[in-house]
Amino acid sequence: MKRKLKNILVTGGAGFIGSNFIHYIFKNTSFCGKIINVDKLTYAGNLENLVEIENKYAGDRYFFEKADICNFDEIKKIFEKYDIDTVVNFAAESHVDRSIYGPKDFVQTNIMGTFNLLEVARENWKDREDVLFHHISTDEVYGSIEGGGYFYEDTAYKPNSPYSASKASSDHLVRAYNKTYGLPVTVSNCSNNYGPYQFPEKLIPLMILNILEEKNLPVYGDGKNIRDWLYVEDHCRAIWEILNKGEAGETYNIGGENEWENIKLVNFLCEKIGQLQGKGEDYYKSLITFVKDRPGHDRRYAINCDKIKRELGWSRQYNFEEGLDTTIKWYLNHQDWIDRVRSGEYKKWMERNYNLR
Ligand code: NAD
Ligand code: TYD
Repeated sequence: MKRKLKNILVTGGAGFIGSNFIHYIFKNTSFCGKIINVDKLTYAGNLENLVEIENKYAGDRYFFEKADICNFDEIKKIFEKYDIDTVVNFAAESHVDRSIYGPKDFVQTNIMGTFNLLEVARENWKDREDVLFHHISTDEVYGSIEGGGYFYEDTAYKPNSPYSASKASSDHLVRAYNKTYGLPVTVSNCSNNYGPYQFPEKLIPLMILNILEEKNLPVYGDGKNIRDWLYVEDHCRAIWEILNKGEAGETYNIGGENEWENIKLVNFLCEKIGQLQGKGEDYYKSLITFVKDRPGHDRRYAINCDKIKRELGWSRQYNFEEGLDTTIKWYLNHQDWIDRVRSGEYKKWMERNYNLR
């Protein structure tokens, strides 16, 4: 059965996946309700990602509210103001390396923020069944899987970094609110995403920019750690399917069925960009530098996503080469975005454009 979605609260909509998701809805679906983007605008949140949406739909079908998901009163006000019937919770601290050096914000936003959203939803929705709280999570909650196995929806959680532990805690809270209070929830656990608007601290955009600037390419440890890569638009489409057709109380794994050793991926990026820039396949490879390993570095993530394929008819549409081509070209064509994001200039840019403090 297809759910009727009206007023969707998207938390973290100014971040990488959240902003792609908002673009996806306006570009690829017939949804005609309202999107309310709630974002605290941390270093990773950038309203510049949504300029076209803002120009076309603001005040009519798209609304932005600068707020912290940890603030009960503000979130409650937003819920009531827009008569929210659907939550998609992207807001999070999302980078493993940052969680190693400063776990506090991860506990605060990822655990306390999710708890707070659940409380507002519970208080506001009471026993309504025509509502949905969808929580975005990661395959990292399952820990590291070596050899040939896969993570399934019922694989036991075994998080190894402060980031994945905080995401695991929030997933458990979401599940508990369904079991205890009957709150209609769904959870999705996705593999590594790549694509436009990704903050250049994550592997793929960091490597693309370092290659273009001929800087060292830092590969952690022996470079043989494995990640499963999914183009962000494929992830967004999976989330859309879950919102519309997912069963309350269920978890869905989403993956790219596309495993790469980091070192092979970095070599591949060097080759692709070398060709594009007319430098030849090997030109950039000498920039590869093996550096000290990340503490607690998970060796392999590998998702089995048969359930969402079988039950909701989703499958990925982008192959890796196509997705990487689009991504590399996007970064090549958005030098201003890159400069602003890296210098913190975009904060000033946003203040000027959106009258934000
Ligand atoms: P991101 O870091 O690019 O964006 C996070 C967004 O959340 C930013 O806009 C930030 O300003 C906002 N935010 C942070 N703290 C907030 C708070 N307290 N209140 C309101 N807004 C706040 O992250 P992303 O890569 O887009 O990831 C989005 C979600 O997807 C996260 O929950 C992450 O755990 C999950 N996820 C990410 C990946 C990936 O590969 N990037 C894979 C699987 C799951
Ligand atoms: P990352 O993009 O940080 O995602 P995650 O840790 O959530 O999977 O890293 C992807 C992989 O790339 C991971 O195994 C760590 C590795 N990595 C490097 O080798 N060098 C880097 O500079 C970065 C950022 C990551």
